[in-house]
Amino acid sequence: MTERSKRPRRLRASRAIRAMSREARVHPAQLILPLFLVEGDDAREPIDALPGVDRLSIDAASGVIDRAMSHGILGFALFPRIDKSQKTVDGSSALRDDSLACRAIQTLSRRFPEAAFIADVALDPYSSFGHDGIVRDGRVINDETVDVLAAMAVLMAEAGAAIVAPSDMMDGRVGAVRSALERAGLHDTVIMSYAAKYASAFYGPFREALGSMPVVADGVPSNKRTYQMDPANADEAIREAALDLEEGADILLVKPGLPYLDVVRTLATTFEAPVAAYHVSGEYAMLRAAADRGLIDFRHALVESLTCLVRAGARQVLTYAAIEAAAFLQSEGVDD
Ligand code: PBG
Repeated sequence: MTERSKRPRRLRASRAIRAMSREARVHPAQLILPLFLVEGDDAREPIDALPGVDRLSIDAASGVIDRAMSHGILGFALFPRIDKSQKTVDGSSALRDDSLACRAIQTLSRRFPEAAFIADVALDPYSSFGHDGIVRDGRVINDETVDVLAAMAVLMAEAGAAIVAPSDMMDGRVGAVRSALERAGLHDTVIMSYAAKYASAFYGPFREALGSMPVVADGVPSNKRTYQMDPANADEAIREAALDLEEGADILLVKPGLPYLDVVRTLATTFEAPVAAYHVSGEYAMLRAAADRGLIDFRHALVESLTCLVRAGARQVLTYAAIEAAAFLQSEGVDD
């Protein structure tokens, strides 16, 4: 028998040695829980496309946040579902200071001063076309949209959002948001920019949750390919990220998550800014669907997915299953 001095299996031989040798681990403080909000009292509406996720009224969201914080989760990204009657072509109800998003941020940021609330900055919840910007003559127009987004970001930051997250992919929006925040004296507001956001088929369940599916109408694009990135492109993500940093972004977000690990890694090694990854609705729904059919174990597949995002270089990870993941991590069930 040949003598083998090189045996990588030595570092896998026991749970203790594996644990002390592990390169990447997910900590609950890195997890950000997206929450879908609706008007009402004590409202919890199940979302068909996202089993286990509910749309919540502000008071019901408080309960979930309490539970999440007891597991060490500190970040919450808020997405309001806006009533159809308030959706317009120009998404103007995004600028109402009594909007559901504003009221939620005001209430929740005061109730949970230890948490960080992340306000989405994009027009899709407010657009009758489901687009992230103003639609005119069959186009999603850039510069006027950017002006609205800058005003929206200030509104959200004034309401109490520690982080504003432009998720719209208009050109120049980070710079406009940063200048508007500075002008308003909001020097500490963090910009988490969706720097590399792809035109992905994995957003379907999210759009169902918000009722923001882009409409198929004459002359209006029914997809977001004129502003979200082509899934085939990675070099372009570097250019987008460089622009966002130059314009004043603090955190660069890559979205979706797992299919774009190369992009997470590239941005994390190219730039010094933290990179976040969004494990999106379609990724969550796939895990749930497979688990419901008994094909995979949900929690192991989930924690593996999140660990891989962190291993690739993500500092923060957005996931709809943040509470389950944190609870599982705390129970040390990962290595079972
Ligand atoms: C839109 C927005 C989307 C998501 C977050 N913000 C969908 C879209 O671009 O149509 C998707 C998140 C998910 O699928 O979990 N500004």
